[in-house]
Amino acid sequence: MFTGDSRGVRASETRRITGWRRVLWVSSWALVFIFLGVLLAALTNHAVIWSSSDRFCGTTCHSMTWAAAAYHQSTHYINNVGVRASCGECHIPYDSGHATAVEYVKLLFFKAERGVKDFWYESQKSIATKEEWEERRPALGDNFENYLTQHNYITCRGCHSLLSFGGPNSRMKLVIHQGMVKADSYNCLECHANIGHVYEQPSSKVDGWYSVEQATAGEKLFADSCTGCHGAKLQGGAGPALSGVTWKQRFGGTKLLTVWGEIKGPMADYAGKTFTTQQSLDILAYLLQQNGLAAGKNPLTDTRELSDTLPEK
Ligand code: HEC
Ligand code: HEC
Ligand code: HEC
Ligand code: HEC
Repeated sequence: MFTGDSRGVRASETRRITGWRRVLWVSSWALVFIFLGVLLAALTNHAVIWSSSDRFCGTTCHSMTWAAAAYHQSTHYINNVGVRASCGECHIPYDSGHATAVEYVKLLFFKAERGVKDFWYESQKSIATKEEWEERRPALGDNFENYLTQHNYITCRGCHSLLSFGGPNSRMKLVIHQGMVKADSYNCLECHANIGHVYEQPSSKVDGWYSVEQATAGEKLFADSCTGCHGAKLQGGAGPALSGVTWKQRFGGTKLLTVWGEIKGPMADYAGKTFTTQQSLDILAYLLQQNGLAAGKNPLTDTRELSDTLPEK
């Protein structure tokens, strides 16, 4: 309306100039912010990775000395494949490398909460000696186990696909794990106790592997379902012998879990039966008895006990 006015023209020119300057001003600041943002994101990501590393969790943090030592004894630290699972890969339910934006934010919250707690306990030196560690360990272990159970063992399943046990030697593993996938319910530690950390433990087998009553119950089940193929004296038939040299060659030095898995998985199928966990433990007890392992006061009742290894000879 007032553009004819000379004052108006000058004013709008100045405004145009300031307009340009402002664009320049805004865009340089935007650049600076973008740069800082990227830098911050990179640093954060670096901090997340660094603070989840074995070096940080296992060495820098003094309270973790013993947990780290026990981890160094486990298959996840040393194995034939040469792939190592780090502290974070089992303990943190988000993978910073493959997280979606939402997961990444959750990861940051997770890290922040843990970080504050861990820093507090570390600075309080609440675990400074081995004795203090041993006192706290059961509770810490239970805590983490509950956490894993609540999250359906997501960290374990991130590396282990339960349906990819292939080949004739893995049939048993496939049968056993398929059930969990169908039920969408996983409790890995129920069968794979001591999988992340192996602490020195006094042998639980000094006073026997199973009870006599249990082996007797197992004998009946065996007679009903297994003798047809394995023989009344376990001498073999359509199936291999389950005693003597054959047994030792096959199972010496392996975990009880391997034999139990055969019974509970493919052999129950062969026999056209479904055994409860306890029934398959009973049959296992009978096989142990027939192979000269000592009976004791306590029956085998818990699949966690199956991590024990059978003698080589
Ligand atoms: C293969 C997976 C795995 C890896 C790798 C792993 N952990 Fe664990 N961790 C577990 C499981 C499972 C438990 C709970 C049950 C148990 O004690 O075994 C656990 C328990 C713990 C506990 C509680 C105390 C205890 O031992 O029960 C601490 C502390 C711990 N881990 C710290 C660490 C640190 C530090 C590292 C790396 C140096 C690490 N973990 C590596 C799986 C793992
Ligand atoms: C970073 C990947 C990774 C993660 C996470 C992981 N594992 Fe493993 N796991 C491996 C590798 C590698 C091996 C060694 C494979 C081999 O020796 O053939 C292995 C071996 C095993 C074995 C067989 C060896 C044994 O000692 O019995 C079991 C069982 C197992 N893992 C269970 C678990 C469970 C349970 C968890 C979760 C607490 C877990 N894994 C987490 C990679 C992983
Ligand atoms: C009901 C018991 C049971 C549960 C629960 C279980 N497993 Fe297993 N798993 C077995 C048996 C039995 C074997 C075979 C043991 C053997 O012969 O070494 C096995 C073997 C394995 C192996 C070793 C394969 C190899 O080739 O050495 C891996 C890895 C494994 N399980 C991962 C897992 C993971 C991960 C979970 C939880 C999501 C899990 N298992 C839950 C019974 C179980
Ligand atoms: C239909 C015949 C048949 C029946 C019934 C049967 N098995 Fe088997 N069993 C076999 C054969 C064949 C093998 C060899 C491996 C395979 O084919 O999976 C075997 C392997 C085994 C193994 C592993 C031995 C090895 O050397 O690998 C065990 C342990 C076993 N059976 C126990 C039992 C038990 C316990 C029962 C009763 C619940 C039973 N079997 C029922 C035929 C049978």
